[in-house]
Amino acid sequence: MPLRPIARVSSRELKDFRANLREQEPIIITDLYRGSRIAEVDSIGRAAQEFGDIRLEIGRSYFDQHYDEPQSQAHEPDETLSLRDYFALLERVPGTDRFCREQALPPLVRSAFDLPGISRLGPESKPVCMIYAANDGLVAPLHFDLDQREVLFTEVLGRKRIYLVRPGLAARLCPIRNFCSFPVHRFAEEEREAFFAFNDAHTCLLEPGETLYIPKLWWHYLANVGVTLAFNVRFGLAPASVRLRTLPSNYLNQNVSRELVDPLTGKASDPRCVEQLLAAFYGDYPGPEERLHATVAALQEAYSSVCASSLQKPYLSGWFKALMQQTPAKEALYYGYYEPAKLPGESSEGCSEADLKSLQRLGRVNRMEPEKLDELCRDYGLAPSVAELKRREANILYTNLMFGRYREDWPV
Ligand SMILES: [Fe+2]
Repeated sequence: MPLRPIARVSSRELKDFRANLREQEPIIITDLYRGSRIAEVDSIGRAAQEFGDIRLEIGRSYFDQHYDEPQSQAHEPDETLSLRDYFALLERVPGTDRFCREQALPPLVRSAFDLPGISRLGPESKPVCMIYAANDGLVAPLHFDLDQREVLFTEVLGRKRIYLVRPGLAARLCPIRNFCSFPVHRFAEEEREAFFAFNDAHTCLLEPGETLYIPKLWWHYLANVGVTLAFNVRFGLAPASVRLRTLPSNYLNQNVSRELVDPLTGKASDPRCVEQLLAAFYGDYPGPEERLHATVAALQEAYSSVCASSLQKPYLSGWFKALMQQTPAKEALYYGYYEPAKLPGESSEGCSEADLKSLQRLGRVNRMEPEKLDELCRDYGLAPSVAELKRREANILYTNLMFGRYREDWPV
């Protein structure tokens, strides 16, 4: 299958963005912010002049830290630099792999454009804007975002080679949580192109000033070409998605969430199915294993009943699983982010205070804040005591951790 180039239109030509939302069809809008101050930022010098004082968290890719570095060097702290100082760092150390992975868009940049009208289409929700700054050659590996919002991604400086893969092909990507477990960013270019062509990917080289619409929950791979500055507007978050995204993240939830929530109206097509999934996860269980099995079973049932256009048959053959289990290096790949040695006794019921603290330090794993959990428990009429809430939280955290490492129902 050849790669699909993403169509480009000007704002004037864009007649019916609703159709893109309805069909979940990516498109590039070449001049979405025409006339805004942000559109005038066309060089590093100009960016430094306009936004030089904004503060950015600069660090390395989590992905590479977990793959490449010995334990002692992992989790290197980020440093805060002004955008001006980050540009200076790029001059001083041209090959640096430090970048601003993602953070909330500073008000100064936010004030340089108005929210585009098309970000008000779809379910009503407060848009969220993020900023990115990177050096030439740095890559965001193939993943999907967990927030379940539609995305308008705008390149301010530099270019990005982007590949998008629709959620329905996720089973082919051997996903661990929301990351493809193939290190596509390590492939030779030709091999990478072949990989994406096989996965029916959409692709583009996003130019400065252009905005790419990335449908919610789509897989995306972004490679920076030149020094880049970019931001996005994330919108159209439906109430049902807010609930579904609290379930453990993997490709089953990705596909089920996409199918169950209408991208235009935000309505759940099968509210009972949503309730059943939440009830399966938030039910009371003696330990995380039971919660895990019940949640996986509920998600798999929903996947096979509502995701008719998603790949039902796993792509990989049995040898892959065998290889994963036998080879330590492959094992690490299989586990992706999560360093088994760092996780405290995950099969225990509940956990100690110290374990809980160490789990909470794994901020990106702990998606379930206590208040949110409390709220959801109340929704389900559970009204737990603080101690019970803690036990349940630990139980859910462990389930989430285990979910990323789940073997039995992993497609092979
Ligand atoms: Fe992303």
